[in-house]
Amino acid sequence: MERGLIVTALLLLLTSATTNAGGTRTLLSPGPSFREAPAFRNGNGCPSPLSQESTIHMAMTLDSTYLRGSIAGVLSVLQHATCPENIAFHFLASSPRPLRRIIASTFPYLSFRIYRFDTSLVRNKISSSVRPALDQPLNYARIYLADLLPKSVPRVIYFDSDLIVVDDVAKLWAIDLGSTAVLAAPEYCHANFTSYFTSRFWSDPLLPDAAFGGRVRTPCYFNTGVMVMDLERWRSGKYTAKLEWWMGVQKKEARIYELGSLPPFLLVFAGEVKGVEHRWNQHGLGGDNLHGLCRDLHPGPVSLLHWSGKGKPWLRLDAGRPCSLDGLWAPYDLYIKRSTDGAVERFADD
Ligand SMILES: *[C@@H]1O[C@H](CO)[C@@H](O)[C@H](O)[C@H]1NC(C)=O
Repeated sequence: MERGLIVTALLLLLTSATTNAGGTRTLLSPGPSFREAPAFRNGNGCPSPLSQESTIHMAMTLDSTYLRGSIAGVLSVLQHATCPENIAFHFLASSPRPLRRIIASTFPYLSFRIYRFDTSLVRNKISSSVRPALDQPLNYARIYLADLLPKSVPRVIYFDSDLIVVDDVAKLWAIDLGSTAVLAAPEYCHANFTSYFTSRFWSDPLLPDAAFGGRVRTPCYFNTGVMVMDLERWRSGKYTAKLEWWMGVQKKEARIYELGSLPPFLLVFAGEVKGVEHRWNQHGLGGDNLHGLCRDLHPGPVSLLHWSGKGKPWLRLDAGRPCSLDGLWAPYDLYIKRSTDGAVERFADD
């Protein structure tokens, strides 16, 4: 995390905005530079962007490591939305200032807010997992959305920073959570649920029943990178404290799982989640957590591609060794690559 702070401090000091002859604002060296996204306008029949009831609220995290992925994700949401002006983004970041400037210059027409996520909230609650990237405090920020976002936001779609949509998020937003569900997400009942927890957990006389006793349905795996969250039910049910309680068991009492922020969500919500069509999270495209090999799509239609796992499309594309599906991410990449001599290469629409 110290390294992350230094990187963002450098961004803050050194990034400068200039306007080139064509009027395109481009961020010049030595921070990351992104092309400006076009203005996306509402189609016919969209409600007024001023009407709060018709706003679609999206939440994502921003940090220097995944910034390129977050920006591609935002662009994909806008590009496939029928009513892009009705979408509001809520970004969580541990050092908002330099990131706010980059988002504002990349998306000059975007309705967004950045909230500071205080990493000390979770730092001492995290236990190390199988992959260090999973232990970044910002991975746990989704647990605190209900506290950080204003009370006027009743529902939010949370997206990880390594995904793109190829469909209108309004369809995901419209899901009916029924009378009790706090979360909606695609569920995977064929995945081996047992394997997400250690034998220490399953052999404990109390813990499995404390977690899953009395669930309305069989607990199934779901991926926490795509979730529709009812923030009002979350707040009144004190779900942040429930997730923190299980993190405390893992940290202080017994190693009950190997992954990062996912298992606490399974412990609290599995079997109570409102199922979403699988097309809304074609996950695992980054390969597994250790090797990051290429993966294929699961059978069926696709609305969202998610490079969960170790491999990330921008890294594989830059290394000249992309997986074939990484080509589907590339059109959303606004990053301006620098050639080795430090000059800025301009791409595509310039
Ligand atoms: C599921 O995972 C557990 C723990 O890793 C393993 O013992 C069990 O054999 C697996 N079950 C199936 C059906 O693969």
